[in-house]
Amino acid sequence: MSDQTEQAASNNPLKAGVIGFPIAHSRSPLIHRYWLRLKGIDGTYDPYGVEPENLASFIGDLAAKGFAGINVTLPHKEHVLPLMDEVEPFAERVGAVNTIVVTDDGRLIGRNTDGFGFIENLRAGAPDWRADQGPAAVIGAGGAARAIIAALQDAGVPEIRLTNRSLDKAVALAEELGGPDLPDIIVRPMEDRAALCTDAGLLVNTTSLGMEGKDPLEIDLASLPDHAVVTDIVYTPLKTALLAQAEQQGNTIVDGLGMLLHQARPGFEAWFGSSVSVTPMLRAMIENDIVST
Ligand code: ATR
Repeated sequence: MSDQTEQAASNNPLKAGVIGFPIAHSRSPLIHRYWLRLKGIDGTYDPYGVEPENLASFIGDLAAKGFAGINVTLPHKEHVLPLMDEVEPFAERVGAVNTIVVTDDGRLIGRNTDGFGFIENLRAGAPDWRADQGPAAVIGAGGAARAIIAALQDAGVPEIRLTNRSLDKAVALAEELGGPDLPDIIVRPMEDRAALCTDAGLLVNTTSLGMEGKDPLEIDLASLPDHAVVTDIVYTPLKTALLAQAEQQGNTIVDGLGMLLHQARPGFEAWFGSSVSVTPMLRAMIENDIVST
């Protein structure tokens, strides 16, 4: 590279973005652009709708196109794994990548920050929650559940109790994520979900139940201890019927918006080299966007 080209390259804004299909709904640009503005960083973060058949070529071109990295959302999170030069152990375990970092020498590192986002949101919203205070009851066995269960294992919960409408998916997930040195993952049928609450320290809804336009998650919380925290990955509405019910019963509740915000932090920090936090102002901005769309 000539001195001039080097200079030009160093003056280029740092480039990141998010890929998915469809992508119009993604709130990641709002979050990252907010931090870019706040930090005065000369960088861009744009949404890219990438059809599945174009995924490999888009990913293959990331370094050549000058990307510092990207976020990956549905339906690509699992499919980008074989396209990485390196997949971090947590992402490998979960089987999904939501953050790609392009190194200075053009290598692609696949990470999964959803588990980090879940735990950070939980700790921020329920500072008194302790992983060892009881089993974690998890409803749902989709992609989000995988990251959340792995994160709860790492956080040190003594036991995970899992249920899902399709029981076979919960059984398969428990087999895949379980291990001899890891907390037990006990699977129960959906009809028995109320029993998951007994002595639990945490109840998590990882399904889409409770989302606007969908059925609520109906569950009897009578056996949930007072100290148990209830959290939901759904954030439209912010207070789902499940959270309202738990709050009424006196349990601490944590809504799902913070998971979205916190999972964005590691990517931003890796691409733009500046640490960021989830502030009330950022939250308010995204809440306004949710209300107005
Ligand atoms: P994500 O990647 O966001 O977790 P997903 O993989 O499609 O999305 O998983 C959605 C979860 O919501 C699953 O646990 C799904 O249950 P099934 O595995 O039985 O499909 C759950 N879910 C969605 N709609 C549901 C409903 N009406 N009743 C019960 N569970 C539902």
